[in-house]
Amino acid sequence: MIEELFEGVYRIDSEIATLNLTPGVRVYGEKLVRREGREYRLWNPYRSKLAAAIMLGLKQLPLSRSTRVLYLGAAQGTTASHVSDIAREGVVYCVELSPRAMQSLLRVAEARENLIPILANAAKPESYCYLLEKVDLVYQDIAQAEQTEILLKNLRAYLKKNGHFVHLIKARSIDVTAEPEEVFKRELEKLTRAGARVLQALRLEPYEKDHLLVLGRFSGATPHTQDR
Ligand SMILES: C[S@@+](CC[C@H](N)C(=O)[O-])C[C@H]1O[C@@H](n2cnc3c(N)ncnc32)[C@H](O)[C@@H]1O
Repeated sequence: MIEELFEGVYRIDSEIATLNLTPGVRVYGEKLVRREGREYRLWNPYRSKLAAAIMLGLKQLPLSRSTRVLYLGAAQGTTASHVSDIAREGVVYCVELSPRAMQSLLRVAEARENLIPILANAAKPESYCYLLEKVDLVYQDIAQAEQTEILLKNLRAYLKKNGHFVHLIKARSIDVTAEPEEVFKRELEKLTRAGARVLQALRLEPYEKDHLLVLGRFSGATPHTQDR
């Protein structure tokens, strides 16, 4: 049985999947499943934190077929390829720092017209300003100590007013000595201080240890200026 959980995201039996934008082509060895004349790619929650969040009860997924996404830390394109399946008439700008990961990402992009690889440092958003328009969603998964600050820089530069963000906080990348709960609290405070509105925060166990997915909106105004 197939059930549509969110636009472009399906439950097939006990697994989740997206409709394959490039029929016959796999990205990371995922299983392809044919149902009612359409081909789906199973979305593995142990390989993708967004899939894990969906399995764990994400309440809202700010993606549709025409969404424009800025994806920070795309790596080899595992999650970005599923985002590209969903935003099939939109665009997924994929920023990645590692030239090695970029080689694989380029192969994924060859088959997917809506996936645009950008070899750059997400900490320097001005370095890709000539490539980008404003986007509806910024997705951050760079596993760096300064990940919240880097997310905020990109929100200010590229997110449309009141657009959405998905922020993957990896506690161990930020502070190996502190308790993850303490790190999550600190990073959430940074977001709200900067004027972001948190819609949901979700721990990703048992799929990913010490990770928090934060879904939110950002208007660009700080809480102080919003009050005026
Ligand atoms: C956890 S992996 C991303 C996994 C990927 N989001 C997925 O779900 O398929 C983190 C990636 O972020 C990249 N990265 C780390 N720092 C970065 C930076 N400052 N700018 C861009 N990419 C960065 C790393 O090279 C790595 O490929």
